[in-house]
Amino acid sequence: MKRREFIVSSCTACLSMTGLAALSSCKATHLVSGQLNKDGVLIDLNDFKVKKNAQTEYRSYVVIRNEELKFPICVYRFSDTDYTAIWMQCAHQGAELQVSGTHLHCPAHGSEYDNKGRVTNGPAERDLRTFPVTLNNDQLFIDLRKQ
Ligand code: FES
Repeated sequence: MKRREFIVSSCTACLSMTGLAALSSCKATHLVSGQLNKDGVLIDLNDFKVKKNAQTEYRSYVVIRNEELKFPICVYRFSDTDYTAIWMQCAHQGAELQVSGTHLHCPAHGSEYDNKGRVTNGPAERDLRTFPVTLNNDQLFIDLRKQ
């Protein structure tokens, strides 16, 4: 195989893999817009539910993406009463983070954070901004006034 053919086939393979990865991560991430008010944002707890064969399972996180917010908020569910809401802006230089399973990743320089917003890999040196969450019947209120 000539050098040019090798480069073309390698790039095609990489693009295919990247496309598959993007599709699978899109499929896994459940986006919601929430209801924004002056104090915070409300989401429905049903957004975490997934029906499978007449059984209810729960997503480990949903992402709030609302055009009124400068960055998305990732809300992790640990139990019926335990949630963490994380501002998806990197603590290093402010890029938007990507969520993947139990961690958040920065595409700019590679910082990583766990599902509580704690930095696990630099160059970021600070944890992410998180917000208090309150359960209210079948809704979760994320208080954007406090940190
Ligand atoms: S902006 Fe996220 S690691 Fe630099």
